[in-house]
Amino acid sequence: MGYFWQGLPPYLIPWSRKVLPAGSTAVETGTFQGDTSLLLADAFGACTTIERSASLAAAARVRFAGDPRVTILEGSSRTTLTKALPPPEQGCFFWLDAHGMYDYDGEDDDENPLLAEISLILQVRGDSPNVIAVDDARGMGTQPDWPPLTEIFGLLADHRYVGAIVDDALVAAPKSADVDFYALYRASRQVQVPAVFHIWPQVRGLVKARVVSDRVVTSVRDRLRR
Ligand SMILES: C[S@@+](CC[C@H](N)C(=O)[O-])C[C@H]1O[C@@H](n2cnc3c(N)ncnc32)[C@H](O)[C@@H]1O
Repeated sequence: MGYFWQGLPPYLIPWSRKVLPAGSTAVETGTFQGDTSLLLADAFGACTTIERSASLAAAARVRFAGDPRVTILEGSSRTTLTKALPPPEQGCFFWLDAHGMYDYDGEDDDENPLLAEISLILQVRGDSPNVIAVDDARGMGTQPDWPPLTEIFGLLADHRYVGAIVDDALVAAPKSADVDFYALYRASRQVQVPAVFHIWPQVRGLVKARVVSDRVVTSVRDRLRR
């Protein structure tokens, strides 16, 4: 495990585009505010994204009202992913990121649909050109509601898929595609500077907080001395 990216690690897109045939598309589960949906539409020309929260889906519909490349499907990925799958001959990049309650106030027995998502993709289009990427790999087997890594890799292996963990993402592809995970790893190590920029708002926030707390401590100390 290396960097913690908030969202899709940027180097994953060029690597996946090399693995997938021309004309491939993208499917995302868990739209949230649509930032990655836009990134995927830019990279693949189209993105179908699934959001369970009615209010987040409505906000995404407003955001992408003028962008026909982004299709928003409202509902749980457990039941809706099947509608998002492209035809078997078309390549697809999957970004599975539908975890967390966010703005949803329905039943929470629907938490973490990851195994259902992967099973569906493999059953319906296991022999198609796919890259399956899952965010938040650090949660697998460590956080409540996450399946253990062994179960995820077992499911992938049953369908002749291979996978690897790079930074905070699990990335999988058909064994027959003979993908170069070492190239992906190397790409992930070449982004130290962008990685720092990525978390720059948090770093700046911490520095500001530190400056303010130092001032408070100094002023209290001065008062006590008087
Ligand atoms: C981590 S956020 C997604 C972030 C987004 N993919 C991005 O990169 O900006 C998780 C999203 O998944 C949604 N979600 C949670 N469970 C879901 C489910 N079963 N089906 C669809 N969306 C779900 C949440 O409402 C939330 O908006």
